[in-house]
Amino acid sequence: MKTYDEDWSCRSSPDQNRMTEWFKNKDLSNKKILHIGIGDSSFALSIAANKIDGITISQIEIDNAKQLNIKNYDIYYLDKYSFLLNNLPNTYDYIVDNNMFNFTSCNICIANYFYSLVQLLNIDGQIITDTGGMFLEGEQQWTINKFKDLIQELNLPLSITEYEKEKSQHFFYVIGLKKTHEYKNPFSNCTS
Ligand SMILES: C[S@@+](CC[C@H](N)C(=O)[O-])C[C@H]1O[C@@H](n2cnc3c(N)ncnc32)[C@H](O)[C@@H]1O
Repeated sequence: MKTYDEDWSCRSSPDQNRMTEWFKNKDLSNKKILHIGIGDSSFALSIAANKIDGITISQIEIDNAKQLNIKNYDIYYLDKYSFLLNNLPNTYDYIVDNNMFNFTSCNICIANYFYSLVQLLNIDGQIITDTGGMFLEGEQQWTINKFKDLIQELNLPLSITEYEKEKSQHFFYVIGLKKTHEYKNPFSNCTS
């Protein structure tokens, strides 16, 4: 079973906080959200959505999330790079992950992850991420152009909006990837 050693159950990153802020003025009363890498669950605590599912590979984050007793919040111990991601019980209006490419150097895993995300997204739903999470120390470094090339290469039905680029005083800002049309995941029959 894959595990994550750093303890993020009591703190949240600047990129996570920027994304949480981005959601704050939105009406989410009929929206379903998947949060990948729940950390301290401050996202689920701050957002009034119809439903939030969260995944993590840190047992301490799960224990922390459970004792917070957040309404309409279910947490799963699940490796996002596994095919089992496709077995989540819902489809989503938003999928939130500030470290999309981190914690693996396997490009096939990343491609499979994107295929799964697209399958889990509703049409017009968005993946919300942040440029800040692309530059984790000791991890594969990503750029927005590398990201755009990957979407083109995999022919994914995603259009990119760089939401707070102009407003941002620095290099980091929130990105949305909107699902524009239906798409068949080439690995949708895989189960492990
Ligand atoms: C650096 S922490 C960030 C937590 C939170 N998003 C934040 O920015 O404050 C990374 C998070 O991603 C999760 N994570 C790492 N690798 C993962 C994987 N392969 N599948 C699912 N979650 C993973 C960790 O369990 C942890 O919740």
